[in-house]
Amino acid sequence: MELGLKGRIAFITGASRGIGRTIAVALAEEGVHLALFGRDEQRCAELARELNARSPGLRAIAVRLDLEETGAIRPAVESAARELGGVDILINCAGGAYRGRLADIPDAEWERYFRVKPLGLIRMTRECLPYLRKSDQARVINIAGTRGREPARFSAMAGPINMGTLSVTKALANEFGSYGITVNAINPGSTDTGRWTELTTMTARDLGVSLGEAEKFLLREVPLGKVVMPQDIADLAVFLASSRSGMISGAAINVDGGRSRSI
Ligand SMILES: NC(=O)c1ccc[n+]([C@@H]2O[C@H](COP(=O)([O-])OP(=O)(O)OC[C@H]3O[C@@H](n4cnc5c(N)ncnc54)[C@H](OP(=O)(O)O)[C@@H]3O)[C@@H](O)[C@H]2O)c1
Repeated sequence: MELGLKGRIAFITGASRGIGRTIAVALAEEGVHLALFGRDEQRCAELARELNARSPGLRAIAVRLDLEETGAIRPAVESAARELGGVDILINCAGGAYRGRLADIPDAEWERYFRVKPLGLIRMTRECLPYLRKSDQARVINIAGTRGREPARFSAMAGPINMGTLSVTKALANEFGSYGITVNAINPGSTDTGRWTELTTMTARDLGVSLGEAEKFLLREVPLGKVVMPQDIADLAVFLASSRSGMISGAAINVDGGRSRSI
């Protein structure tokens, strides 16, 4: 299938590891030029070097950005857009949520995580908007999370963070439609990054069982019986970024092996 992605320019936050990194690699395989944003500039630079070496003609650059530093977002976007020549696709992937019982979550952590998602995501989108408006295939893809729709134990924070992200996604899809920009969200279920290890460890401790048993316990909730892989999220992100998804906007699509109970 021709995806119409070759030569497009994507900005990806959270590109240093996990899901964001996998999306970056998948887009590079389709010939997309990349600005890789993260606090860990070294990891982003290593990835940029790897992608540039793998695909001659591709331009991947690393940009240090801490989304908690509000004033740093505009200059980072401006300099990357200048270097690459604009922005067609924005993937807002940075973030996470503190996992634990409400009583154990320090106040500062609530503020810290919210400053990244959804606040950092909102600011990043606002700064990219002038460039996206100039693109004839503009896409915003927000990585939210199933807990935004279905809160669960130990996810007091993931619930509101991702629900806020989903709500902003819908609002911006409405607002940006007249500019020809699509805005969608992907809801990963439990995905095999550092966060899955965190969840199995916490569950094992809570239930007083081994890590293997905790994993089995968690996967019992997943009809397909497997943990989601970052590549599963990247495959959907590539499609949503492509020319083939032009009439999909304001959608929030679960990639969770069927775990969500809601329709
Ligand atoms: N894994 C899951 O099970 C799961 C489930 C549902 C939703 N999600 C969502 O998917 C996204 C990616 O998750 P992941 O599992 O890939 O997480 P991860 O491996 O922990 O990666 C998180 C990414 O966010 C970046 N980040 C964190 N704080 C930042 C800040 N202040 N400024 C800029 N970047 C920051 C990190 O980059 P640096 O450290 O370089 O800054 C890193 O690249 C998150 O939004 C998460 O909520 C994940």
